[in-house]
Amino acid sequence: MDGNAARGLSCLVTGATGYIGGRLVPELLAEGHRVRCLARSPGTLRDHPWAGSAEVVRGDVGDAGSVRAAMRGIDVAYYLVHAMGTGRGFEERDRRAARIFGEQARAAGVRRIVFLGALTPAGVPEERLSPHLRSRAEVARLLLASGVPTTVLRAAVIIGSGSASFEMLRYLTERLPVMVTPSWVHTRIQPIAVRDVLRTLVGSAHMPPEVNRAFDIGGPDVLTYREMMRRYAAIAGLPPRAIIPVPVLTPRLSSYWVGLVTPVPWAIARPLVESLRYEVVCREDDITTWVPSPPGAPLDFSTAVSLALERIREAQVATRWSSASVPGAPSDPLPTDPDWAGGSLYTDRRELPVEASREALWRVIESIGGENGWYSFPLAWAVRGWLDRLAGGVGLRRGRRVPDRLRVGDSLDFWRVEEIEPGRLLRLRAEMRLPGVAWLEMSAESDGSNRSRYRQRALFHPRGLLGHAYWWSVSPFHAVVFGGMARNVARAAAKGGPTGKRPPTGPS
Ligand SMILES: NC(=O)c1ccc[n+]([C@@H]2O[C@H](COP(=O)([O-])OP(=O)(O)OC[C@H]3O[C@@H](n4cnc5c(N)ncnc54)[C@H](OP(=O)(O)O)[C@@H]3O)[C@@H](O)[C@H]2O)c1
Repeated sequence: MDGNAARGLSCLVTGATGYIGGRLVPELLAEGHRVRCLARSPGTLRDHPWAGSAEVVRGDVGDAGSVRAAMRGIDVAYYLVHAMGTGRGFEERDRRAARIFGEQARAAGVRRIVFLGALTPAGVPEERLSPHLRSRAEVARLLLASGVPTTVLRAAVIIGSGSASFEMLRYLTERLPVMVTPSWVHTRIQPIAVRDVLRTLVGSAHMPPEVNRAFDIGGPDVLTYREMMRRYAAIAGLPPRAIIPVPVLTPRLSSYWVGLVTPVPWAIARPLVESLRYEVVCREDDITTWVPSPPGAPLDFSTAVSLALERIREAQVATRWSSASVPGAPSDPLPTDPDWAGGSLYTDRRELPVEASREALWRVIESIGGENGWYSFPLAWAVRGWLDRLAGGVGLRRGRRVPDRLRVGDSLDFWRVEEIEPGRLLRLRAEMRLPGVAWLEMSAESDGSNRSRYRQRALFHPRGLLGHAYWWSVSPFHAVVFGGMARNVARAAAKGGPTGKRPPTGPS
């Protein structure tokens, strides 16, 4: 390690609002480096757990002036942007941006460029690749020829919540118990876990100046897309998927299909699907000479998928939607991930002003359930409880430990207290029989003297097609059940506290 390594480097990260960049910044900071992010919309980085520890400058990689300013004083410049999904002319935009980046890095005396590009198939000439892969290969060539020592890391599918290619795999597998698939499900791919990608990106900063080349990076498994779907289903607890390959499905047709079935936008699904035609397997493992793998690395496919699903399975859902200040693992969702990333999550949201203090509102929230009822259409909750008992679940009759106090881990009818911030927030996790995971969250906020605001969210993470069908079948009743509940909680607080023995009669 040279002197610079010991005192930390100045790193420029482009693409910090994207999947890889947003997860690389905290890793670089943890290594003791200084980080400057170049972003087109710096405001979107505000909610990151690392905001405040990194410098953020406004800029566009297509604008030489902003790149020049951002390169000042930089040792290592990370190129983590692409124009995929921006429609016609994306190759020209990528080409121009790569030229500007290389020229400005050279002019500023940057010591290394690190680019994460795409693994391309062996023996296929560049002109026969899909436009997306061809463009990635061209960007790599331009940066390697820039005169600045450059590391190009070439990866296939990256496994982690928020990665476009992983989200496509997730939604296809979760939403379709029977799949008619194109023949690309048989091509072999070498996926890699996001934490191994990040580890390699960080380690590349210290390569000596004579290294100017591309490296293939991948995990230990080489799998067909079909096998990836099969393993994903097993890890996610889904019944085995029936996969029926049909040779006549063209990449274009199958990308329409992916666009229809999954929330991944068509403009992103299309280039990804087109690239799946090619076998992408590492041809060398030279990177380990410069960035040795620690014990247990690289992660295998199944472990990487388990990590990507952990947040939702372990019910730590809140960090994604509210308390973004909790730092997460690279496999976790981040606030800047696109809306369609992170798996399906249905939400019923209610918010009401309350003519009572926050303390009075909190008393109602904390004493919910058991003898006090659920402040909603009582018959609906009773029926839900009976149905749960019939399905072998716990039903409504567990009640609560004490009438007016709750603590984490308490059972509360067919819920369990997952999180409680006294006076402010109560989150319950459902323990009823459901094709998915459900939460009910209630919070109280002060809104001036003797006034407050009540917020309520019902969240449902469906498991498989049945989970989606369940949510849609019960959603017509949500206005009555959840809307009524919100109004009655607010009313009870205004009247001075919990309802006592009996739940109020239906919503009005
Ligand atoms: N995800 C994968 O599975 C995967 C697999 C293999 C390789 N890779 C490679 O990894 C790299 C990063 O990919 P990713 O998945 O992190 O992409 P991503 O999530 O789509 O993020 C792309 C980033 O590029 C930024 N960007 C685009 N045009 C820009 C411009 N003109 N000026 C400044 N910023 C611009 C975007 O910023 P805005 O927010 O302003 O749009 C965004 O932050 C790419 O080179 C990709 O080919 C990814």
